[in-house]
Amino acid sequence: MSTSLTINGRQIDAVPGQSLFDAATQAGVRVPTSCVKQGKCRECIVEVTAGMSLLSAPTDRERHLTGNFRLSCQCAVASDAGEIHCQTMRRGQMRIERHALNLPASHAPMPLDPTVTRDGDRILIDGEEIARSSAPIHGLAVDLGTTTIVVRLLNLETGELVADASLENPQRFGGSDVMSRIHYDTGHPGRLLMRTVAGYLTHAIEDFPIDPATIYEVVVVGNSTMRDLFFRQSVYSIGQNPYRSITEIEMAAGRRTTTSLTQTGRRSLLPVHPNARVYGAPIISGHVGADAAACMLAIDLAHEDRLVAIMDIGTNTELIVGNRDRIFAASCPAGPAFEGGAISCGMPGLEGAIEDVRLCDDGSFQIGVIGGVPAEGICGSGLVDLMSELVRAGRMNEMGRFEHAGERLAIDPGHDIFFLESDVNELAQAKGANVAGLQVVFNQYGIRFSDLDVFYLAGGFGRHLKKDASRRIGLIPNLPDAKIVQVGNAAIEGACIALLSKTKREELEAMVRRVEHCRLETHPDFFDYFVDGCQFKPVESPERVAG
Ligand code: FES
Repeated sequence: MSTSLTINGRQIDAVPGQSLFDAATQAGVRVPTSCVKQGKCRECIVEVTAGMSLLSAPTDRERHLTGNFRLSCQCAVASDAGEIHCQTMRRGQMRIERHALNLPASHAPMPLDPTVTRDGDRILIDGEEIARSSAPIHGLAVDLGTTTIVVRLLNLETGELVADASLENPQRFGGSDVMSRIHYDTGHPGRLLMRTVAGYLTHAIEDFPIDPATIYEVVVVGNSTMRDLFFRQSVYSIGQNPYRSITEIEMAAGRRTTTSLTQTGRRSLLPVHPNARVYGAPIISGHVGADAAACMLAIDLAHEDRLVAIMDIGTNTELIVGNRDRIFAASCPAGPAFEGGAISCGMPGLEGAIEDVRLCDDGSFQIGVIGGVPAEGICGSGLVDLMSELVRAGRMNEMGRFEHAGERLAIDPGHDIFFLESDVNELAQAKGANVAGLQVVFNQYGIRFSDLDVFYLAGGFGRHLKKDASRRIGLIPNLPDAKIVQVGNAAIEGACIALLSKTKREELEAMVRRVEHCRLETHPDFFDYFVDGCQFKPVESPERVAG
């Protein structure tokens, strides 16, 4: 007798006593490990989505894990019948936005002046010798997102991209959003989140076609929590009102002059040169992080005469508006709905997610699925499409009420994918937070949407949105197509610029210092904007505009 085990979509027959690690290997799935099944590295995590009761009881080495997460080397099949489904923390299988596109050509030629230089065989950082080598000099740019991580390896002498990699953030066992990770880190000593991410990054770096010891600088961007966790900072204060990173608190107290962070390669636990410098780009606030700062560099905001906005829609939407003279920023607590969280058949933008929806005249839905495989759920861009179609056809009104109250809309009946009125409420609130953020920032700036020259949509979700659908339901301002530019992963682009140019990095530090941060929750009209933003209609500028 055997148990059917499906791991990362591959099925095998597993026998009682067999560890999930060994079963995965048998199925041809590589599980990350640094300790070779000793239960020490904590990298071999799997998420069990079905059949949890068919596994052995958690061991002491798994005490740090909750929910459906297990260490695959520590947990064994304990039944001789049934079905187990699980998945590893995946590497590059998500639709991770690795690249940026449609960014403006820099106003000034992009200088190649990295902080790491060579003098014969002496390798210098800011003029100080840190190593001797005649091999090429490399640098690493890392975008540490809550859900995904993107890494680029660059030759610092030529500026060329040597390799890149993307992976799912393995810290998922500590919760899917920033607040749960803060809670997890505060409650579990030992920097487990940092160590896990460092372990996964190590595997990615070791797979690059170079000697990792030739990496002399790493530039890390990411939201404030991800960045601070990586630099072993306490993130507790980011989770408490007024939501400030420890670096902001220290800067306000005069104990530091920048919110950027640095540490050595040795301390970072990465397999880069031990004397390498690891630089965490500056953050703007507890919820407007180094990723948003990097986006400003990517769109060359320091030299921008036009009025532009850049918005990265996610669990926490980050918004920056301005030009070379004045910059405003805000974060909008949108929640996980647009990433598929809290939605009946919602899922992230993985293979199997419905990403396109069209409502046909006969009332059925025509769908497009990522990877062309059978549908497993609907991701954010599919949900935006779906709601836009329902509004267009009059099947849902502006208030998000279905034409037939309580109806269960069968989106893909063959795979039991459906959509409920209660799902609309979750999405309405996520949208309401984004719109309120837009309205508050524009109001404080004293401008209207129509004053904007360019509206950049950054990030993976923004990249895959349809402009028409997004405008129709009021997810983005009601602007003409020509003004809306989808730029993909601008944060990693900004990280690369900061890696390749000391001048640009200084420009970034100076720019971050003069950003004016709008706190949405203290704005008197926030709630009105939020309620209005929950409606499914095109969003216009507020009537009252501050001077
Ligand atoms: S392989 Fe290291 S903890 Fe399981």
